[in-house]
Amino acid sequence: MRKKIVIGNWKMNKTVSESIRMVTELKNLLSGKQDAEIVVVPPFVSLHPCEIALHESSIMLGAQNVSAFDHGAYTGEVSAAMLLDVQCEYVLVGHSERREIFDESNQTLNQKLKQVLEYEMRPVLCIGESALTRKATKTFDFLQTQLQECLRGFVEDDLDALVIAYEPIWAIGTGDTAEPGQIQEVHQFIRDYLEKQYSKAMANMTPILYGGSVNQGNADVIMKQKDVDGVLVGGASLDAEHFVSIVQHAQ
Ligand code: PGA
Repeated sequence: MRKKIVIGNWKMNKTVSESIRMVTELKNLLSGKQDAEIVVVPPFVSLHPCEIALHESSIMLGAQNVSAFDHGAYTGEVSAAMLLDVQCEYVLVGHSERREIFDESNQTLNQKLKQVLEYEMRPVLCIGESALTRKATKTFDFLQTQLQECLRGFVEDDLDALVIAYEPIWAIGTGDTAEPGQIQEVHQFIRDYLEKQYSKAMANMTPILYGGSVNQGNADVIMKQKDVDGVLVGGASLDAEHFVSIVQHAQ
């Protein structure tokens, strides 16, 4: 059975001191043994302080982004080696805000995936369609192109650590969650795609998460869908108690 994964993406929220307070609270609230993998994804500057605050906790750290380059003269960039050094285990790749606001292409994301995998962290490849694409009934074609272009050049053995997050853009930060049936339909499509391109074993092993207005009220029904292996939570992950109650639905 695939273990459930619950990821809290804080986006550009919380200063270093607020981040430390937040992870300390989470550590206290989630001190027992957890069945799910719990990952918090603070801004870059908070990663090292959170690493220290989370010492001896099962809560893991993730990063919101990574450079497509390995090291060198790339002002403002943060490399995979730097993330690994502060004990990041997960890295978001291709969040729709990165794609839309910062123009990250599937080709760039392919390079970022390479970096994350080379440094043996788990990339969480985010894919998702806009409202316009869904209305035009082009969702599956669009997602297939994102998968094809982002995963180009990798063979199955390279992708052991891959996590995929389906995040319909129209559901992110809008309160407008996709229907459980819509979510399951897309997750099944992604799993079928992995089976066609790689193998049944790879399709069975790869966690597929849902993200887009997940909260304590809808997490349970979303995570009960057959092909949903966890959630990527934005807004509701900023409050420790809300986040913990989502984690509890994953147990
Ligand atoms: P949201 O964000 O939960 O606030 O919709 C999800 C995400 O962007 O990962």
